[in-house]
Order: sequence, then structure tokens, then C-alpha cells
Amino acid sequence: MDLNEQVAVITGGAIGIGRGIALALARAGAHIASLDIDPTGNDETAHLVQETGRSGIAIDCDVADRAQVRRAMSEVLQKLGRIDILVNNAAIYIDTSLTTGTYDSQTREYERSIAICALGGYYCARAAVPAMQQLGGGNIINIITEHIKEGHLMTGPGASGYDGAKWVMWRQTESWAVELREHNIRVNGLCMGATDTPMLRAVSVPIAEAAMKCEDVGQAVINVLAHGKDGPTGESYLFGTTGTPREQSLQEIAALAPAS
Ligand SMILES: NC(=O)c1ccc[n+]([C@@H]2O[C@H](COP(=O)([O-])OP(=O)(O)OC[C@H]3O[C@@H](n4cnc5c(N)ncnc54)[C@H](O)[C@@H]3O)[C@@H](O)[C@H]2O)c1
Repeated sequence: MDLNEQVAVITGGAIGIGRGIALALARAGAHIASLDIDPTGNDETAHLVQETGRSGIAIDCDVADRAQVRRAMSEVLQKLGRIDILVNNAAIYIDTSLTTGTYDSQTREYERSIAICALGGYYCARAAVPAMQQLGGGNIINIITEHIKEGHLMTGPGASGYDGAKWVMWRQTESWAVELREHNIRVNGLCMGATDTPMLRAVSVPIAEAAMKCEDVGQAVINVLAHGKDGPTGESYLFGTTGTPREQSLQEIAALAPAS
């Protein structure tokens, strides 16, 4: 896959899956802007991208803040000149149980879950799409979760805020795909299972150690992009469901690529 001179914006690229995607796209030739609230990790990601020979910039941005998102996208255009790819990856997994904490604590965390993933994804798309239209096309990849697929619903204290936000993102994937088809902008989602990241390690180290690696999800993004401008749009791809051996997950990821 050759993304030479394309520019990719990745939210939550400071660590975990976002960093894995940033490095996979950089190795495929893309310049990278990572929008994150963790300046230290974000600078490290930019540095790792630069080591591949591509431009890498770290932008301090809370994607739940629409003014910050607008400023961040302007900065990307000013420094890198274009936006071809947007990866909506930032999300939080936090206790939004209806039976623990206080009214104030739980409602605040629920609002934050929705604001980062569902609203933040919309803010980023709304700010990036005009730049893609100017180029005559582009790609939006929404990082969702297996939980939105039937039979994979998760229950637990964090589930309703996290999964609620992901359900919004899933439906947005389909509706944006329909809306943006005439602008040659493909919109697809990745609905993967457990991946070894700080987010998952905070829940379960044994599950994280048996899970997919961040670079595997980076490869999944590459394989979805590899279909080119006439490739599928509006898809939400399920792979690497939790408990699947990594070897099998890698085969599922390989199957996302166009048939050769
Ligand atoms: N790890 C898994 O098992 C798994 C499985 C399926 C889907 N996902 C999804 O993959 C994505 C990445 O997850 P991860 O496991 O790498 O998470 P992580 O917590 O390890 O990393 C998330 C990144 O997002 C950033 N972030 C958080 N809030 C932000 C905000 N308001 N603005 C900008 N950046 C913000 C964090 O600073 C961090 O760099 C998420 O959308 C998650 O739901 C993860």
C-alpha cells in the first residue's frame, strides 16, 4: 500500500492503537498528525513517525472540545497542507454504572464518554471533510469495537457509556458513508476485539497479553485503505474478537485486504 505524500490525522495517537495506526500509515508513506491530550506520549509518537522518514506532528487537542478540534485541523492544514485520511480513534473506557458512585460522578463520566468518542468523532469529521472535498476524495476510519456486533455485547461497570458512544459511532459510519459517497470519501469502521493497550491492561493484564497487538490494528487500517477510492464504504469490519488466538486474528486482518 503506497500512501506516499498523503496526510493522515489520527485522534488519540499518543499511545496504544492510535500510535500503532500512526506508525503503520507512516511506514506506508503518509505524513501524520496526532491529536491527543497526552503531550508526552504524543511527542513520542511524532518522533517515532519522523524516524520512518515522514513528517510527524503532535497537536495538543481534546477532541471533545469543538473549538480545539477546529484549531487543530487548521494547524494540520497549515503545517502539512492537506488531509486525506481521518482516523477517529480516541475514546475512554470508564465506570458509568447506574449502581455505583454518585449521581454527579456517573453522569459526568457518561457525558465524557459520549463527548470524546461520539461528539469528538463528529467534530473531527466535520472539520476534516472540507479539506478532503478539496482533494476530490478521502477516507474516514472509525475505530469502534466488537461490542456493537450481535453476540459480542459486553456488560460491566464501564459498558453503557463506552458502548453507547460506540453505537453512535457505528451508525455515524453508515450514515456518513451514504452522505459522502458522492464526494469520493469512503467511511468504514473497525470492530475489533481485545488489543494489548494501556486501556485493556487497566481492565485485565492476562487478556491483554493474549490479545492482538497495536500494529495488527494498524495493518487492518492499511488493508481497508488498500481497496482504493472505489473500495467498500459504510462497512464495519469485525475481526480478532476477544479470545481468538492472535494467529487467527492475523488471518482475519489479511482477509480485509483486496483479493490479489
Ligand atoms: N484495547 C482494546 O482492546 C480495544 C478493543 C476494541 C476497540 N478499541 C478502541 O480502540 C481505540 C484506542 O483504544 P486503546 O486501547 O488504544 O486506548 P488507550 O486508552 O490505550 O489510548 C487512548 C488514547 O486516546 C487519548 N485520548 C483520550 N481522551 C482524549 C481526548 N479527549 N482527546 C484526545 N485524545 C484523547 C489518550 O490520551 C490515549 O492516547 C478506542 O477507540 C477503543 O475504544 C480498543
